[in-house]
Amino acid sequence: MKNPRLFEDDAVKERYQFLVQEIARHDVSYHQNDAPTISDADYDDLRRELNALAREYPDLAKRYGTAQNVGAAPSKGFKTITHSVPMLSLGNAFSDEDVTGFVERIRKFLNISENETVEIVTEPKIDGLSCSLTYRNGELVQAATRGDGYTGEDITANVRTIIDVPQKLQGNVPEHLEVRGEIYMRRDDFQKLNMAQLASNDKVFANPRNAAAGSVRQLDSTITATRPLRFFGYALGTSSEKFADTQDGIRRRLGELGFAQATPQDVCADVAEIVAYFKHVEEIRADMPYDIDGVVYKVNRLDYQERLGFVARAPRWAIAHKFPAEKAITIIRDIIIQVGRTGALTPVAELEPITVGGVVVSRATLHNEDEIIRKDIRVGDHVVIQRAGDVIPQVVSVDTTKRPAQSAAFKFPDTCPICGSHAVREEGEVVRRCTGGLICAAQAVERLKHFVSRNAFDMEGLGSKIIEEFFAEGLVKTPADIFTLESRDKTSLTPLRNRGGWGDLSVKNLFASIDARRRLALNRFIYALGIRQVGEQTAKRLASHYLTYEQWQSNMVAAVDTSSAAYQELLSIEDIGAGVAADVIAFFAEPHNLDILKNLVTHIEAENFIPPQTTNSAVAGKTVVFTGTLVRMTRAEAKAKAEMLGAKVAGSVSAKTDYVVAGDDAGSKLTKARELGVNVITEDAWLQLIESGG
Ligand code: IVH
Repeated sequence: MKNPRLFEDDAVKERYQFLVQEIARHDVSYHQNDAPTISDADYDDLRRELNALAREYPDLAKRYGTAQNVGAAPSKGFKTITHSVPMLSLGNAFSDEDVTGFVERIRKFLNISENETVEIVTEPKIDGLSCSLTYRNGELVQAATRGDGYTGEDITANVRTIIDVPQKLQGNVPEHLEVRGEIYMRRDDFQKLNMAQLASNDKVFANPRNAAAGSVRQLDSTITATRPLRFFGYALGTSSEKFADTQDGIRRRLGELGFAQATPQDVCADVAEIVAYFKHVEEIRADMPYDIDGVVYKVNRLDYQERLGFVARAPRWAIAHKFPAEKAITIIRDIIIQVGRTGALTPVAELEPITVGGVVVSRATLHNEDEIIRKDIRVGDHVVIQRAGDVIPQVVSVDTTKRPAQSAAFKFPDTCPICGSHAVREEGEVVRRCTGGLICAAQAVERLKHFVSRNAFDMEGLGSKIIEEFFAEGLVKTPADIFTLESRDKTSLTPLRNRGGWGDLSVKNLFASIDARRRLALNRFIYALGIRQVGEQTAKRLASHYLTYEQWQSNMVAAVDTSSAAYQELLSIEDIGAGVAADVIAFFAEPHNLDILKNLVTHIEAENFIPPQTTNSAVAGKTVVFTGTLVRMTRAEAKAKAEMLGAKVAGSVSAKTDYVVAGDDAGSKLTKARELGVNVITEDAWLQLIESGG
């Protein structure tokens, strides 16, 4: 006979564990994947319920954790490592046309005629997390996560526990070798792990990728050792000796050195073969032992890869072909309006929760006002939604035959739902924006969230929920307030540690993670400010142009006057057109923002920008103009290469030009260069110059 009291306790325990796991799962979707799968209100309900139970049953809290310490990724504690060569991401292809476009762009860039073959290596895209392994004289000495692509985390101790990462390489090994690949978990191992986790009342993982990521980021490597992690090697980082001539050669040599590889792989001669490969993998995908989210195409010849180089954060020589989005039908419960940090009003559909491709979806973006009108999306409608990769689910179409009789077209508000200010849509814009500026709590709080987010200040322990709480209580109103939290807390009548959910340790950790960010790279600092249209890439361009915070700041203040030289200089930066410049200036024209900046820099230091990888280039920092017909490379290639080496490529000749590279039939630019006494060189001389180093 079962003891009824015990039975009741069992039910509470089960509910408690369920809540811990659910919250952890949503934390991952929200903070790490930026793809929340439930509404904030529902999430808050989960946390409230857990907190209530934790108070009532402190034993459970001790054993299974509380809402404050579940789900947070323990990335603190790992050393940072700067990658010798950035770890990039891949551009995406979603259709056969995209694949054709990829191959055509390569041909054009390299000027390869139609009767010459451009071989493409094809391989599965593993759904895991990328990792860089460094070997010295064949011994594994370091393993790092990708991080933001430029710096990652030192996970050497954990990676040493992975069975198919060779600790020592056999045979003829370069003195220095960096291998890149993917840490992943097989599906059967993942199932077994979750069963074991369940049996020991530990956290279960949502999918193999999360399980792999969670295991790799354990601070205690003895835990990692118990997790069935695996590794595929698929790329070369750097090598002290020539490693191969082709991608296929890299793969073969990696195989010889003892690295496992994903199958099937192929070398394709044309788009038809590539498409056939894709279809094949799509068919066998469900039966593969591990999750893949697409396939990857890479130009086979490494000399071509070298010439093709990179654009922004992805190589020109590789692309990921993603599987089509998974779809499902559900009902729209409500349409709500979210206000972003720039005041943009975004309509979001709250859905009857439904599983799409293994993930529960309860929200979908409706993009903007026009999209709702175009698709005539209404509350109560049956809709087809889709989810592709990590992107936010979208509403594809409406089934109007199932529309309830009393349904009405959605009326987009013309006031901000948060602060009540007018929301206006400027001519030519699709977005309606709240005019409340910083009096609008939504904008202020979203800016703060952006400020602490992963690619900005990356403050561990200061997630969106806590920012919301602190903001609501008036504890943190501007970014600078974050840095005075600790000193104010010391004299506060209600210090954090006395509050529900906070303990001495979590408070200490929070302050430590804030302190760790009192120095920060200039580009991250600029990005963190949340200026409209200034994403990571633009922030990097600004940092690399102005180099120091002081120069950037004073130049931007000067550029507010659009007749100034500072404004012209801003426009001369690659990718910064009048639109972006206008947003940057608008930020600096606002006295309130200047106050925020002034205040902020009394607490932190933005480190001077150090240009990556251009130190041994003879042309770093030089301004060059290409003119006439080049024969050894295409114009696009010449420009890309020069920029890689840190040179600025200009379209017209001025006294500031360092070199004019003149090909055949050079015209007026050459004449102008001669007039101004600018150094004119031939294409061959240019190639010699850039190959000579510095
Ligand atoms: S090659 C410069 N090959 O996809 C290109 N990446 O979206 C380096 N990935 O961060 C990547 N399978 O984590 C490459 N066979 C494969 C891959 C692969 C998975 C991941 C990798 C990368 C991401 C890019």
